[in-house]
Amino acid sequence: MAEHKKVRKAVFPVAGLGTRFLPATKAVPKEMLTVVDKPIIQYVVDEALEAGIEHFVFVTGRNKHIIEDYFDIHFELEQTLRERSKKAEMTLLAGQLPKAGTVSFTRQQEPLGLGHAVWCAREIIGNEPFALLLPDMIMKSDTKGCMKGMIDLYAQSGGNIVAVEECAPDQAHKYGIVGVGDAIGDGFHITDMVEKPAKGTAPSNFFINGRYILQPEVFKILETQERGAGNEIQLTDGMLKLLKDQAFAGYHFQGTTYDCGAKDGFILANVAFALERADIRPTVEEGFKALVKTLG
Ligand code: UTP
Repeated sequence: MAEHKKVRKAVFPVAGLGTRFLPATKAVPKEMLTVVDKPIIQYVVDEALEAGIEHFVFVTGRNKHIIEDYFDIHFELEQTLRERSKKAEMTLLAGQLPKAGTVSFTRQQEPLGLGHAVWCAREIIGNEPFALLLPDMIMKSDTKGCMKGMIDLYAQSGGNIVAVEECAPDQAHKYGIVGVGDAIGDGFHITDMVEKPAKGTAPSNFFINGRYILQPEVFKILETQERGAGNEIQLTDGMLKLLKDQAFAGYHFQGTTYDCGAKDGFILANVAFALERADIRPTVEEGFKALVKTLG
């Protein structure tokens, strides 16, 4: 099997305005809203850590400095916890913090779209393949994390990889949809990509769920990318151009994605992750069953 250049770095674009979550996002970035007791962004960074990512690149914007503080050591808090012998809390804080020197921040000065946010990371990524994780999408899986599965597929396929999941065919018009070609490793060749296809025209019911492995040539394309839907520089438009020259594989993620950038997805994520927690499951389950009964 051919050796493919290692995916060492991951980009987390956190510069969006989060208008679907106003008024909360007027003061708090949506990535810092909590699912049970962790900010959404921690779930996504944990997924990248599990996949072996070594360098974490955040593309931030105005009002997002709290994310930078979150991925830092809180000296005074740790000191107080130590003095009070709060060992469990100290372990929790030390937990999954990326190592010193492995986190970079760059700024997207204007929210011109996801494609533009990714392009803002070009100097830090350099000439190597990179992972891209949309930080408002969190994944739940009983086996391996979505990015870990993609890295495993990449070892076989190389090239670019887009994670996909199946939706009900009549819902395909809400998503970015891929065209499905021949099998490759644990995935398939992608033949096409369409952002929100008109009803009845989708090439499949496999939707793009917010996890990518991309080759650095995408930056050249994004540099001159014209504005597309919503007057924003769209990543899908850039990937479509890259698809003409480079292979894209689809990784069929076995699990559930929660769109925490939307209120309903965020609430469902809270319920789903709370039910996994032994400490709170009994009360959450009881309360939830009582609520469901009232629905009739
Ligand atoms: P979304 O469209 O879901 O995020 O972009 P948004 O614009 O923040 O949210 P709404 O639609 O107004 O509620 C997907 C991801 O891309 C990032 C967002 O932060 C989000 O994680 N993004 C989007 C940027 O970093 N910059 C942009 O210009 C646009």
